[in-house]
Order: sequence, then structure tokens, then C-alpha cells
Amino acid sequence: MSNAKTICTVCNYIYDEAQGEPRQNIAPSVEFASLNEAWRCPECNSGKDMFQPCTCVSLPIYESTCVGHGNKKPVAPVNSGQAISKAMSVGEVVAQHPASACIFEQLSIDYCCGGKISLEEACRKKGLDVDQVVKKLADVITNNVPTPELDWTQVSLKDLIDHIVSVYHNPLKYELGRILALSEKVALRHGENHPEVVELLKVFAPFKEELELHMQKEEMILFPTIAQRESQNKPISFGCGGGIEHPIGVMMMEHDSAGETMEKMRKLTNSYTPPEDACNSYKQLFHSLARFELEMHQHVHKENNILFPRAIELFGAGSGNDQSCMTAK
Ligand SMILES: [Fe+2]
Ligand SMILES: [Fe+2]
Repeated sequence: MSNAKTICTVCNYIYDEAQGEPRQNIAPSVEFASLNEAWRCPECNSGKDMFQPCTCVSLPIYESTCVGHGNKKPVAPVNSGQAISKAMSVGEVVAQHPASACIFEQLSIDYCCGGKISLEEACRKKGLDVDQVVKKLADVITNNVPTPELDWTQVSLKDLIDHIVSVYHNPLKYELGRILALSEKVALRHGENHPEVVELLKVFAPFKEELELHMQKEEMILFPTIAQRESQNKPISFGCGGGIEHPIGVMMMEHDSAGETMEKMRKLTNSYTPPEDACNSYKQLFHSLARFELEMHQHVHKENNILFPRAIELFGAGSGNDQSCMTAK
């Protein structure tokens, strides 16, 4: 029996083939691919094209624009991970079990910037039963890993950096420009009846520039320094008065700020729900922003919860004589 899951990138509803969809009289075992083309998401009414395989980490979304993605041979074993406990941080759960990101997306639990709190605390904040969440996570991890993710806690830091740049940064550079153009078009055509899309443009345009600058700093200073020092196995320090934790701290602050901006955009767009009179560009804009948010969660998670802690642990803090320096702006 098929048990693949497919997630709606607009509202995070998951179509589970093992369950079907009783609300639409769809029996268990009906594959997502065989659903009628006119089928709509039971939660937000999005079409089938708004869905993606619920691997959450294999990222098929940008394959057409992502140089090198999808062609790499596995460089580390697939992560089998340790058993989930309530005391584990949310970020640690996703680092150990990448497939769990689907569940956290569905439950609106932040696993990137806010991933440091325990699973128990995260559930308490959301008013969820932690035991049920642990069970749900265990089900997904056991039964639903259609595209296994490499164990990013075991590969070299250079390989992890290459993965982040090719799978997230490079496609994002293209996608930011495309979304901005779409946002300008929608604001121009619909701003009069929907002032929120003008507000959205005012938030997104400077956000795009901040993200581009952020990625530039990572790619030109932080990432090469980490990769170089890993290969040379020397201590690492930055001329501005400390070790690698300083530039990493700056990057993490910028990640927090990006999280707040995405939250603002989500509120402005009623969780990316297009209004009744939305044209295709309008729908496409909201769809693109919902996917952009999902990608950003996964991207920031791999930096905040895997790359940065590993870099700090491997090289230690505050030693060496490196003259590199990175400032926040
Ligand atoms: Fe990044
Ligand atoms: Fe980053």
C-alpha cells in the first residue's frame, strides 16, 4: 500500500496516500498523482500544482534553476538519527531526522531561528499534546522517507556549505528577482482594491536586498573561511575581536530578523491566501512566497542548527590570528 505524502506549499496540509481524504470521499491508497487534475486542497483550495512531495528536504522546487542540484552523488550515509525525546531541541530533531520538518511546518512550529527550545516547550507554547506530536514524528520518520536526506551532521563542512550554496543560495538569487517583479506587477494592478499588496511590496523590496547582502557575506567571507580552515585544521579567529562565534552571531541575528519579516508577510497576506478576485499573477505571487518561506526555513535550519554549531565546535572560539572581519552592515 502506498504511504507517500504530499504537502500543500500554501497551507501545509498533507495529503497522506495511506489515509486518502475522507472529507472528499477519497479512499485510502489513492495516489496523489492519480487525483483528478481539478482536485483542490481541502484546507485552502489550492490546485495540485501547489503541492510538492513531503520530503521537505530534497527540494525538488528549484531544480530547473539550480546549477548542480540533483546531480551530486551521496557523500555520507543517510541519517538514521537517534530516538526522539521531549527534551531534544526542535532544531536537533530536524537535524537528526530531516523528514520531521514536514510535521513542524504543518504544526507551525519554528525549527530554524526558534529551533533551540525543547520539543516539550514548543508544544506547550502551541497548546499541543507533546506525546501525540512525538508519536506523529515517529510515524513520519519510520514510514515516510521517500527521498532520503544525507546526514549533514557527518559530511565535511565544505560539502555542507556546497550544498547550502547550490541548493538554497543560487536558486534564491534568481527567485528573489522573480518574486520582486511579480510583486511590483500585482501592487500596480491590484493595489487600489487590495492595499495589503502595496504594503507587501514595501516589505519585500528591502528584504530582498538584505538577503542578497547576507548571502554575499556568507559566501565571500564566512563560508570560505570555514572551509579553508577545515582543510588546514588550524584555529580560526576574526580580526574584529574574537573567534568564529562573532560573525556567526551576526548571521544568526540576521536570520532572526528574516524570520520576523517573513512573519510580517504571512500576516499581511492572510497566510498567503489569495482573495476571490485574485488573477493568476496574484495567485502565483502568493504561491511563490509560500514556497520561498518553506525554503527559507530549511535553509536557515541547516545553517543555524547544523553548520554553525559544527563550525564553532570544530574550531573552538576566540583563538588564532586571522585578520578577516565581518560587520553586520
Ligand atoms: Fe545562507
Ligand atoms: Fe544565512
